[in-house]
Amino acid sequence: MKPSTLTSICSALLTTSLFFSSAALAASQQELATNGMAATCANCHGTFGKSIQDGALPSLAGMKNDYFIEQMQAFKSGARKATIMHQLAKGYNDQQIKDIAAYFAAQSR
Ligand code: HEC
Repeated sequence: MKPSTLTSICSALLTTSLFFSSAALAASQQELATNGMAATCANCHGTFGKSIQDGALPSLAGMKNDYFIEQMQAFKSGARKATIMHQLAKGYNDQQIKDIAAYFAAQSR
């Protein structure tokens, strides 16, 4: 094998591994961002969305994605009347709501 062939194989491997590690880094940063958003809900809805006063402050853990997104959009638009959530929901865009929905849907009840 010519040294130049070896060099191009090495640089191809290096490029590939850099690509995958930056993709993994981006994924974990996204995960951290979502965890951070979900953590702000814990004061009222409990750690990991498990409420200690289910009812007055509903549990979010295990809530179905579609229902969650619908409620957040309804709070945002004012279609669902609320004491607090209409204000909080306005702070999140559609993608963030989807990400938070997926986070809570994945938590066990
Ligand atoms: C200060 C307390 C508080 C915080 C913080 C809070 N919530 Fe709420 N949440 C409530 C209350 C109270 C309700 C009942 C509706 C209302 O009166 O606002 C509610 C209701 C909900 C519902 C509807 C549940 C159902 O069973 O229909 C969802 C979904 C929800 N919250 C999501 C969130 C998310 C996501 C966050 C974090 C980004 C969050 N909440 C942060 C107090 C809070």
